[in-house]
Amino acid sequence: MSKKQRVQYSCQSCGHTSLQWLGKCPGCSAWNSFTEERVAESPRTKVSLKGEEVVALPLSGLTGTDVFRELTGTAEFDRVLGGGMVPGSAVLIGGEPGIGKSTLILEAMGTFAAGGGTVLYVTGEESLRQIGMRAERLGISSDRVVVAAETCLEKVFEAIKSTSPGAIVIDSVQTLFTLECEASAGSLTQLRETSARLIAKAKSLDATLFLIGHVTKEGFIAGPKTLEHMVDTVLYFEGDKDHLYRLLRAVKNRFGSIMETGIFEMTEAGLKEVLNPSEVFLAERPLGATGSAVVPSLEGTRTVLVEVQSLVCPTNFGVPRRTIVGVDYNRVMILAAVLEKKASLVLNNFDIFVKVAGGIRLTEPAADLAIIASVSSNYLEKPLDAKTVVFGEVGLTGEVRAVGRPGERVAEAAKLGFTRCILPCGNLKGLKAPKHMVLKGVSTVQEAIECFF
Ligand code: TYD
Ligand code: MG
Repeated sequence: MSKKQRVQYSCQSCGHTSLQWLGKCPGCSAWNSFTEERVAESPRTKVSLKGEEVVALPLSGLTGTDVFRELTGTAEFDRVLGGGMVPGSAVLIGGEPGIGKSTLILEAMGTFAAGGGTVLYVTGEESLRQIGMRAERLGISSDRVVVAAETCLEKVFEAIKSTSPGAIVIDSVQTLFTLECEASAGSLTQLRETSARLIAKAKSLDATLFLIGHVTKEGFIAGPKTLEHMVDTVLYFEGDKDHLYRLLRAVKNRFGSIMETGIFEMTEAGLKEVLNPSEVFLAERPLGATGSAVVPSLEGTRTVLVEVQSLVCPTNFGVPRRTIVGVDYNRVMILAAVLEKKASLVLNNFDIFVKVAGGIRLTEPAADLAIIASVSSNYLEKPLDAKTVVFGEVGLTGEVRAVGRPGERVAEAAKLGFTRCILPCGNLKGLKAPKHMVLKGVSTVQEAIECFF
């Protein structure tokens, strides 16, 4: 080993470094996550501040609130980005293998190129032929999208120099390595080094950088926190692989809201934007069936009507089973306990199955009342009125609490022909009922159940 190098061990999960190997990471408690890495010792240079002025300005004098944006032309993608690409910014797109990240970015870059942009697409995972086949399938053919099958950062820089693109795609960051770093490709040191240099490059060229990253089994992009800190925007592409719908969610955005989501459908010819999600998700809803309830749920700035289904059946073996898909397991357990204690529904001898139709995940508390409606409907064998929607948060004492943006929820339900909405009393204040829509405020779970049936 040359004098200028030293060995360190770093956790591949959180980036914690140590001078000796450790079995358990003190940073993130992961086991067996330390690998050896050689790092170049940078000589300590003395920094002199002489002659350099510190630039500090009053906040009122700073401008730049209007960020210049370039549209990719794929509307849902642009919306999640916060209104288009910001030149010089870095965007990390994470998702499970096979969910459609490459398809999504190729489509967005296709429309960007069609609008006059130039793109460098670096693929480290697939061959040029494979990319060609995908592009053909998606109907994209453009001279302005240049594809390079390359994993060496130095060669990628050469390609950037010769193409001077407006957008650079790295698919995926985990395959890239730089010659200046001895660690193996995909290791945290390489990931950090290559990403940092690419981000700096993109900034200096005013190009938008898209880094595609795989999510590991634990649900993190490998080396998650390091990369998330370095980029401006982090998007997750998620969905149930067995379903056709995919959600693009912003989890960090320095140039926009993180409330945004884009909804796509995977088809034979690529991803299609879903512009009327409520209609799509309710298309196959069985009318008049017990156990089905519809909730107007917020997905970013949009309201989407989603169906919650439940099945409550007597337990055959000792311990009752609870299988939950699409909503948090613990939340359903809490709601079942509330039903048992506050509404006298004896559920302890019953298996409970809850599912959200369409492979969507409901994360907001406003879905609580719909879960209550759905479970109690199936338990009592009484269907909810097919033209009723339900929303509201439920507390442990059985109270129904107000939730955000009731007006938009009611409006979306009215738009799709629903005529009755059961909502928290606290949300009624100042809320005007749309035409043909009856609003019914409830303040407790007991009251709500009386209104449901
Ligand atoms: P891909 O974009 O390769 O996923 P990722 O980059 O996230 O690993 O796409 C994965 C799946 O999408 C693949 O199993 C096939 C499917 N697919 C379609 O159904 N239709 C299409 O037009 C394309 C291109 C892919
Ligand atoms: Mg891919």
